[in-house]
Amino acid sequence: MVSRLEGKVAVITGAAMGMGAGAARRFITEGARVVLADIDLPAAAALAKELGDNAVAVGHDVSDEGSWETVVGTAEAAFGGIDILLNNAGIWRTAPLVEQSAEGFDRIIAVNLRGVFLGMRAVATPMRARGGGSIVNTSSTAGLVGLANMVAYGASKWGVRGITKVAAVELGPWGIRVNSIHPGGVDTPMTASLRFGREDAVATHPPIGRHGTPSDIADLHVFLSSDESSWITGSEIYIDGGLMAGPTPH
Ligand SMILES: NC(=O)c1ccc[n+]([C@@H]2O[C@H](COP(=O)([O-])OP(=O)(O)OC[C@H]3O[C@@H](n4cnc5c(N)ncnc54)[C@H](O)[C@@H]3O)[C@@H](O)[C@H]2O)c1
Repeated sequence: MVSRLEGKVAVITGAAMGMGAGAARRFITEGARVVLADIDLPAAAALAKELGDNAVAVGHDVSDEGSWETVVGTAEAAFGGIDILLNNAGIWRTAPLVEQSAEGFDRIIAVNLRGVFLGMRAVATPMRARGGGSIVNTSSTAGLVGLANMVAYGASKWGVRGITKVAAVELGPWGIRVNSIHPGGVDTPMTASLRFGREDAVATHPPIGRHGTPSDIADLHVFLSSDESSWITGSEIYIDGGLMAGPTPH
């Protein structure tokens, strides 16, 4: 079988666990070399060790401008450049609008939105030097509709959806595609408190009667990162078991 990412170098933020780790595992099996960037360096390093010589870990806070230079430098030193960026890292905190602190709001915006901006800016020129590339920005269903208690998270994810389109327009002529993905509820450490998969799970019922897995998201990441999607840019892809299609009768 042909490896769908053969010869490509990917930077994945938030790669130590959850969807980022799922994508990293899949990218290695599809022939990519992968930089695992995460604020939790020990966890990223443990995964890189497990994945072997085609993976390297780097400590990284996506909201920190200088930290991105380290990531780009690591990719260039280890693997000679960057073809793919998965802007996956994110934090999720909820609060009713009237109780949301300004500091908490700013931190979510810094990680989830400023981090995506800094990432796109950092890789655009190195990708252009390679003749192009693919950037996949992780938004959410919270970036498509208004979800209660998510004034900060929702703002960050609506922002990601918007700047993805700006970047697609600006970077298309450089051969760089930029798309956003919009997962529904996915079973990861982030959502552990929601108890997906258990009888007492918080009720959200996608028409496809289960919550998502990191493997479901990795399928989409491979497609959007590979040449199979070479005419897709500026798009927003829902990956939510049909949740956004409408309410499920029950
Ligand atoms: N899990 C869901 O149901 C769901 C749904 C929609 C969207 N999302 C989004 O998908 C992405 C991945 O979510 P997940 O569920 O895998 O999360 P997770 O919490 O399981 O993993 C997130 C990873 O990001 C890292 N991280 C956190 N802050 C960071 C920072 N400042 N810099 C670098 N790394 C940082 C963490 O250490 C962790 O390894 C996030 O952007 C999240 O908002 C998640």
